[in-house]
Amino acid sequence: MASSLLSEFVRILLCAFVLSVRSSFEKKVLVHGAQITFPVCSLSPSINCAAPTTNVNSALNLVHKHGPGSQLFDGGPINHTKVLLEDMARVKWIQSKISNSISGTSDLKESNVSLPASYGSGGSSYVVTVGLGTPTKNLTLLFDTGSALTWTQCEPCIGSCYNQTEPIFNPSRSSSYANISCSAPSCIQLPSGTDQLTGCSGSTCVYGASYGDASFTDGFFATETLTLTPTDVITNFEFGCGENNQGTFDGFAGLLGLARDPVSIIEQSATQYGRYFSYCLPRSTSCTGYLTFGRGTVTSASLNFTPMVTIAQNPLFYGINITGISVGGNPLSIPSTVFSNAGAIIDSGTTLTSLPPTAYTALQSAFQKAMANYTSAPPIYPFDTCYDFSMFSTITVPVITFSFDGPINVELDWSGMFYWVNASEVCLAFVANNADTDGVIYGNTQQRTFEVIYDVPGGQIGFGAQGCS
Ligand SMILES: *[C@@H]1O[C@H](CO)[C@@H](O)[C@H](O)[C@H]1NC(C)=O
Ligand SMILES: *[C@@H]1O[C@H](CO)[C@@H](O)[C@H](O)[C@H]1NC(C)=O
Ligand SMILES: *[C@@H]1O[C@H](CO)[C@@H](O)[C@H](O)[C@H]1NC(C)=O
Ligand SMILES: *[C@@H]1O[C@H](CO)[C@@H](O)[C@H](O)[C@H]1NC(C)=O
Ligand SMILES: *[C@@H]1O[C@H](CO)[C@@H](O)[C@H](O)[C@H]1NC(C)=O
Ligand SMILES: *[C@@H]1O[C@H](CO)[C@@H](O)[C@H](O)[C@H]1NC(C)=O
Ligand SMILES: *[C@@H]1O[C@H](CO)[C@@H](O)[C@H](O)[C@H]1NC(C)=O
Ligand SMILES: *[C@@H]1O[C@H](CO)[C@@H](O)[C@H](O)[C@H]1NC(C)=O
Repeated sequence: MASSLLSEFVRILLCAFVLSVRSSFEKKVLVHGAQITFPVCSLSPSINCAAPTTNVNSALNLVHKHGPGSQLFDGGPINHTKVLLEDMARVKWIQSKISNSISGTSDLKESNVSLPASYGSGGSSYVVTVGLGTPTKNLTLLFDTGSALTWTQCEPCIGSCYNQTEPIFNPSRSSSYANISCSAPSCIQLPSGTDQLTGCSGSTCVYGASYGDASFTDGFFATETLTLTPTDVITNFEFGCGENNQGTFDGFAGLLGLARDPVSIIEQSATQYGRYFSYCLPRSTSCTGYLTFGRGTVTSASLNFTPMVTIAQNPLFYGINITGISVGGNPLSIPSTVFSNAGAIIDSGTTLTSLPPTAYTALQSAFQKAMANYTSAPPIYPFDTCYDFSMFSTITVPVITFSFDGPINVELDWSGMFYWVNASEVCLAFVANNADTDGVIYGNTQQRTFEVIYDVPGGQIGFGAQGCS
């Protein structure tokens, strides 16, 4: 134990050293045709982070909810079992909304792990701090392209509130707060964004939204002044003032909803930002990425766009058209129809990409073959392809490329291929669905370091390499 702690410590020091010369480190990353060589330590959370660079002042910081960049980070070690269980629960929740018949991921179904009664953070992985009310109060919200309503817990918590780290928002102390009436068009329209009927308390519109088995929020549908940055202010922003909230949501104040629906912040700020936003998720969970609204925010050198697809069963999600996967430059033999059965979506909140079993099996087998020289590590739920990299300072892996309609090819960053538990347990960051007919989710691990652009009026989603590191 002591020696493993010591070697971990030495590794962190070494990594800090390697990355302190970041520019030369970036040059040391070698791409040999279809392979890439990189320092193992760059996958670990214990690295020095480069500040994100964007050419706009209106960028918001995006941080991982379990990373030290999150001001609410409790400093303890990440419970990977909990993170991964929540992620599988989110996959199941999304699949239940895009498929007529769902069977979940095979690992979830076959494993003998029971979901905790309240896994409830909605599964989202990244958080962003916004200001609400007058005077403005900082609230840190889970950032979610998979749901539309923005909400926060509100005093006096008529039902109940879960514990949150920041003070709970008190509408009676804000001069810009106003209830929305039951007869207002936005109240009548709301169920399209929440999947739940609205109600009335007196003449006040009452909303409800739920996120899987045990997480929900309900309360008053209201308007407030939302301050994204000192120069980006949305007045009369419609949100849920949550009077009855259950789930842990990991102590965060609520959710920022960016899905496709009139109640989404994207539609509500359409006149300001033209339904155009982008974000970049950094390589390590300890580093800071960004979220920007509006055009002219592009930071990446080259951009590739793929059409935004509408999922018939649930137009809320951002659909994409995956056409194939390559490993080490070799296209896998996968019928492209397996990706389109229930459809595929891109999601900011799901950690792992969940693939049709036919695609997963092909990927796993090609990857394992190319990695035959590395020692495998014991499988850890929900993964079956893990490696022990503790004896290496750099490793060489096959490049994984996703092809989308366009056609475009997106070569994943090395950090987009792996889930890091520790140096002796690094797993291929994909999971298999139960059936080829289940919905496919392109998760946030695979999006790392790309500036991902959502151009809603243009009907396209863009990927810009090296958007952040
Ligand atoms: C990690 O989370 C799982 C699932 O919630 C829980 O059963 C386990 O006790 C947690 N482990 C630790 C060390 O907290
Ligand atoms: C799950 O674990 C429990 C307790 O270890 C055991 O009794 C049960 O048979 C297991 N179920 C399955 C399906 O493996
Ligand atoms: C609110 O958040 C902004 C941006 O994150 C920060 O600059 C400011 O100091 C915060 N204000 C308070 C009162 O915490
Ligand atoms: C919430 O916080 C209070 C005070 O810190 C604590 O007593 C209580 O046990 C917490 N509740 C939960 C569900 O964690
Ligand atoms: C909003 O509506 C609720 C329920 O009708 C009411 O208790 C509250 O006072 C109202 N708040 C404002 C600011 O009108
Ligand atoms: C494994 O290592 C051997 C010896 O260094 C080398 O010849 C072979 O190409 C390697 N295989 C792969 C898949 O990298
Ligand atoms: C997906 O892309 C393929 C290849 O470009 C195309 O044939 C197919 O019609 C597209 N599907 C959808 C739903 O857009
Ligand atoms: C790495 O994680 C695995 C799985 O949780 C654990 O069994 C192993 O002891 C850990 N190794 C070190 C060196 O911490």
